[in-house]
Amino acid sequence: MASAISLDTKTLKASPVYPPKITSVKALVESTDFSLPSFYTFTHNLHDELISDDPEDSIPIIDISLLVSGTPEEQSQVIHQLNKACSDWGCFMVINHGVSESLTKAMIASFQEFFDLPEEEKEEFQGSHVMDPIRCGTGFNPSINKANLWRDFLKCVAHPEFHSPNKPAGFSEIALEFSKRNREVVTVLLKAISKSLGLEESYINKAANFELGLQLLAANYYPACPEPEKAIGIPSHYDHGLLTILVNNGVSGLQVKHKEKWFNVNIHPNTLFVQVADHLEILSNGKYKSIAHRALVNNRATRMSIALAHGPSLDTVIRPAPELADNESHPPAYVELTYREFLELQQTGKLRSKFRLNSEQSKAS
Ligand code: OGA
Ligand code: NI
Repeated sequence: MASAISLDTKTLKASPVYPPKITSVKALVESTDFSLPSFYTFTHNLHDELISDDPEDSIPIIDISLLVSGTPEEQSQVIHQLNKACSDWGCFMVINHGVSESLTKAMIASFQEFFDLPEEEKEEFQGSHVMDPIRCGTGFNPSINKANLWRDFLKCVAHPEFHSPNKPAGFSEIALEFSKRNREVVTVLLKAISKSLGLEESYINKAANFELGLQLLAANYYPACPEPEKAIGIPSHYDHGLLTILVNNGVSGLQVKHKEKWFNVNIHPNTLFVQVADHLEILSNGKYKSIAHRALVNNRATRMSIALAHGPSLDTVIRPAPELADNESHPPAYVELTYREFLELQQTGKLRSKFRLNSEQSKAS
């Protein structure tokens, strides 16, 4: 196997905080015993470290099967629950969703096989631009992140056109089926969420041109870390689409911010964790806010998560629904951009303070 690190010892000695070329954290931890290299040291903000353990305050659970086959009363109950979940929390658990546990397990196993490929085989899929349809790599983006992230990733565009690496064997078929099934869940949710906002059922679907919506299938791979409290998997951020679905391999590490405190999220097998993302915030004119979340690492076991980002079509201008931005107390609160423009701006690291029109409301990510 190729070494994970091609050491340029001269540069490294002269500048100890500058990372050598690392192809993956996985290969780095497998290659040697070490304490955490300095370029992985992440400075946690101590004011930002409150962890909530209030047992009364738990993430809402939505039984999606009732939206499809429940009585009219049951349906309106779930729509009401969605309204509360999206406005109070910005996230919820979905049960009875029809994505089989065996399919999710097969997807996780297939991603594991991908990450287990020799480094030089994975390098073939290293894209360079955010819009590259298949991109794998490890966490370093000096313009956005202050430290190297303790995670490797693979991201594929799954819709409107499906892309996937041609190895490992069977990956493509499983990824296609998994992406389709999850998109169906989001289609049902977006109808109910439209209604929960007092809009017609197909409102979001039409306004976001969801038929041609961008779906990203991404896996994050967080190897066990020798000094987990000094590193970070993914720092606090907001997802950019409409809704993100997350599952993981049973190892926890995800936290969401709720009422200024971090909550540990334990995703049970057979449950989909759903997060409100920026474009639902824009369409709802801020009634539903995207949720801040982050991934911590641990020293016991490798964590793997799969995140499916479901967004508008890239060339549709997204603006607040006129019904929700129609008077002086509720003027439109967001800039109008196509999803593509939004993503390109986000790459510069400057978007967060710009996308809300009233910058006092802007959140630091
Ligand atoms: C992401 C993300 C969290 C996790 O991929 O955007 O927030 O639990 N992942 O891996
Ligand atoms: Ni995220």
